[in-house]
Amino acid sequence: MKTKAAVLYEAGSPLVIEELELDEPKSGEVLVKIGSAGICRSDWHLMSGENAARLPMVLGHEGSGTVEEVGSGVTVVKPGDKVILSFVASCGHCYYCNTGKPNLCDKHMATSTTMLDGTYRLHKGDQDFTPMGKLACFAQRSVVPDVSCIPCPDDLPLEIAAMIGCCVTTGVGAVTITAGVVPGSSVAVVGCGGVGLNVIQGAKLSGASKIIAVDISEGALEFAMGFGATHTVNPKQQDSVQRVKEITNGLGADYTFEVFGSKETVELAFDMARKGGTATIVGITPDGQIPEINPSTLVRQEKTLKGSYYGSARLHSDMPRIAEMYASGQLALDDMVTHRYHLDEINEAYQNLVNGDVGRGIITKFDDR
Ligand code: APR
Ligand code: ZN
Ligand code: ZN
Repeated sequence: MKTKAAVLYEAGSPLVIEELELDEPKSGEVLVKIGSAGICRSDWHLMSGENAARLPMVLGHEGSGTVEEVGSGVTVVKPGDKVILSFVASCGHCYYCNTGKPNLCDKHMATSTTMLDGTYRLHKGDQDFTPMGKLACFAQRSVVPDVSCIPCPDDLPLEIAAMIGCCVTTGVGAVTITAGVVPGSSVAVVGCGGVGLNVIQGAKLSGASKIIAVDISEGALEFAMGFGATHTVNPKQQDSVQRVKEITNGLGADYTFEVFGSKETVELAFDMARKGGTATIVGITPDGQIPEINPSTLVRQEKTLKGSYYGSARLHSDMPRIAEMYASGQLALDDMVTHRYHLDEINEAYQNLVNGDVGRGIITKFDDR
């Protein structure tokens, strides 16, 4: 079958919308009609060349959709089911899947540029296209592993389901699972875009008493106040480490989160943590940028530096739980969507992200036009 998709042929060049050949789902795979796909910075890291990738590639890893067809042996979903798409296809059998860390699945990582069996489903002539996160959801349709499909309630809006597929789980999970923020804590969040806003919401849910939004965009800071931030700090206008210390009684924050992805912001997050505090890194830093973290400071100040991938979530149980949290009104996800685009407008959508538009943009229309 044919599908329209947004293709990255060359880093630094716009995505090309074109028709590709999409194979039938193989055993253990599912054909999904994409319903929504989020404009996340992880795709930009590849588009800009900040992080290397096998090209050509169909981007899109924050998605949701409706199952149209299943390959042999698929029992977890059936045609008509609404699904959140997970950009880690946890195999269920490796060391990490068996020890409660499916977000770190070895089989998924070992096949990071292909499907789980090492082959491709998207083609044009003799070219094979890498599916980002085995999802490739910047497309009308995609074939994905059945383990990437997380069934969700029929009444969960597809754009919310897509956000749960990346920014919500990544952000809320970083706070509640990776860092384990406890009530009364002080929290500083460096980078308040789609993922950072969900770190802020996670901190609020965890009962943090001070939630300091740190961003170079005044618009992002103002927007963050609507999601639970209690203070704002702009590193362009003041010594942000000093300001965070002032807000936290001279100590520094109990927990800090880096949610942009750069040498500079990782260093800020580390420096903003108090003695004995924890800095959790969520953003993906460009290849070759190595933050300067002084190991003596780590030792003498007993800081903890942690990485958080996909919010350390157990994807198949945590995403439905997060969907419940939205349904019960604990997560303000509707207000987070600031732009809705057609697939054809994807390059404009990424320009808006880079230019600092607040909140999350989402592709909600995929029809031929
Ligand atoms: N200091 C503080 N904030 C910054 C800085 C800086 N030096 N530079 C940029 N920012 C802010 C931007 O103004 C924006 O508000 O970081 C925010 C980034 O938000 P988005 O572009 O929406 O990125 P998002 O999709 O949230 O992803 C953030 O998480 O999952 C990873 O790969 C992803 O590395 C990326 C990070
Ligand atoms: Zn993402
Ligand atoms: Zn596994």
